[in-house]
Amino acid sequence: MQPDTPNNNHNPKIRRLEITDISKGFIELLRQLTVCGSVSETQFQDRFQELVTEGENHVICVIEDENTERIIATGSVFIEKKFIRNCGKVGHIEDVVVDVSARGMNLGKKVIDFLTAHAESVGCYKVILDCSSENKAFYEKCGFNQKEIQMVKYFT
Ligand SMILES: CC(C)(COP(=O)(O)OP(=O)(O)OC[C@H]1O[C@@H](n2cnc3c(N)ncnc32)[C@H](O)[C@@H]1OP(=O)(O)O)[C@@H](O)C(=O)NCCC(=O)NCCS
Repeated sequence: MQPDTPNNNHNPKIRRLEITDISKGFIELLRQLTVCGSVSETQFQDRFQELVTEGENHVICVIEDENTERIIATGSVFIEKKFIRNCGKVGHIEDVVVDVSARGMNLGKKVIDFLTAHAESVGCYKVILDCSSENKAFYEKCGFNQKEIQMVKYFT
């Protein structure tokens, strides 16, 4: 029998980020998305505790490879409280990445489905995200449609 690798583990569990995930390659995974800098264990723990105080309004999910105990997929959603739409709420999906060795196995879709379901469950009227044109087809497969354009101004 083959070992249960991400390749043949068809239903890996998705869960919320835990404080011990720093030792399971969480930051290294985020480095496959963008610049992270050198996040120390203390910095990670401080930020984690800050996010805990946000409760359901800021959720980071991860998929852990149970064989290697490494984090192989992640994404986050934060909930914006508005005045428009009868004091409506909008979910913003950010920082979605799947480990290069585990792409194409539906883990990205699983992350998006989890975050989208969370936004809906807390009463958001929509969920939005920014992406590159290369990833447009992926998000379409996840049920998203292109709308308008993104503007940005960086401070650093
Ligand atoms: C984009 C990313 C998250 C997709 O994750 P993934 O686990 O490989 O995607 P999935 O296996 O869940 O794909 C779901 C579906 O989308 C399709 N898909 C995935 N990436 C695609 C792409 N770039 N272009 C077209 N289709 C794509 C898959 O073929 C699959 O289609 P199917 O349901 O018909 O089989 C992953 O490639 C990644 O981490 N990329 C680098 C970081 C990044 O760009 N993150 C997004 C920031 S906005």
